[in-house]
Amino acid sequence: MKAIVISSPGGPEVLQLREVEDPQLRDDEVLIQVHATALNRADTFQRKGSYSPPKGASPYLGLECSGTVLSVGLHVSRWKIGDQVCALLAGGGYAQKVAVPAVQLLPLPPGLSLTDAATFPEVACTVWSTVFMTSRLSQGESFLIHGGSSGIGTFAIQIAKYRGARVFVTAGSEEKLAFCKSIGADVCINYKTQDFVERVKEETGGQGVDVILDCMGASYYQRNLDSLNFDGRLFIIGFQGGVTTQVDLRPLLAKRLTVQGAALRSRSVENKAVIVSEVEKNVWPAIAEGKVKPVIYKSFPLSEAAEAHRLMESSQHIGKILLVP
Ligand SMILES: NC(=O)c1ccc[n+]([C@@H]2O[C@H](COP(=O)([O-])OP(=O)(O)OC[C@H]3O[C@@H](n4cnc5c(N)ncnc54)[C@H](OP(=O)(O)O)[C@@H]3O)[C@@H](O)[C@H]2O)c1
Repeated sequence: MKAIVISSPGGPEVLQLREVEDPQLRDDEVLIQVHATALNRADTFQRKGSYSPPKGASPYLGLECSGTVLSVGLHVSRWKIGDQVCALLAGGGYAQKVAVPAVQLLPLPPGLSLTDAATFPEVACTVWSTVFMTSRLSQGESFLIHGGSSGIGTFAIQIAKYRGARVFVTAGSEEKLAFCKSIGADVCINYKTQDFVERVKEETGGQGVDVILDCMGASYYQRNLDSLNFDGRLFIIGFQGGVTTQVDLRPLLAKRLTVQGAALRSRSVENKAVIVSEVEKNVWPAIAEGKVKPVIYKSFPLSEAAEAHRLMESSQHIGKILLVP
């Protein structure tokens, strides 16, 4: 099969389409003919050599895909050859074929095309497992998403609105904020021109928000604590603003705050199975109802993976970038 190979850690130009061995299918796995895969910010870190695949995972990039089942392992009963599916991957989506544990597959949400389905597994599993399963965002609560126009953000806005939350977002341009508003964000904050702590306080009568989904880490840590309401929950999923900082911890006690973090990719297959099943139960109906829509900025052929990475690193995009083998 053909796959994108990282010739050596570096810039987008190290991504090269090559002929490689087909994946080996294990008994609990399904082999998928990839129809589309979507980029995630983590792919750019892996390309640069700062984010290795977990042990046993495919060496190729790609954390999600959609496609058609080509064959199934001996212990697989739910899926059969010819099924159209999408899947959460630990790697290997930037290829024509990928082998994946059967429990990480999802059926296509009714009404969705095979291409559109590639946009959901990673964002849905990340946001559902953090914001809803762990931080317990509930109807009527307020929720701040940093990077509202990202792949993660555009999904988080829609699912949080669907669940009855009041949604705050930060983004770096008026165009991105306008898009966030068009898909449901209530309070849109330009992080380049406004202080988000001040805006959050203004909009919540001085209280702060109940839950924050953060991809910045160190650079926003203090300001996130300062933006939370009593019993507020901060969930950190990225370190785009660094990993070390000095912080005044007093808000933790004074406001009874909870701070958590998690990475989806390194979780066990058993743990991912629980998340995937919860996503199918809770998120797929929202997609089927048309309340959560795919947000695709641009699609590239697999051979143009380098171009797709350049686009992601330029941060011009809104939503997801796709690769189609
Ligand atoms: N832990 C996990 O399991 C997990 C899983 C998936 C994703 N993630 C993380 O989630 C984040 C989004 O991922 P993605 O794939 O959706 O990436 P993406 O589409 O490339 O988005 C990156 C986002 O970061 C935003 N950003 C940059 N500087 C910012 C700042 N100072 N304040 C607020 N936002 C800022 C960008 O906003 P502007 O363009 O407006 O500057 C952009 O929306 C990444 O950090 C990724 O590593 C974590």
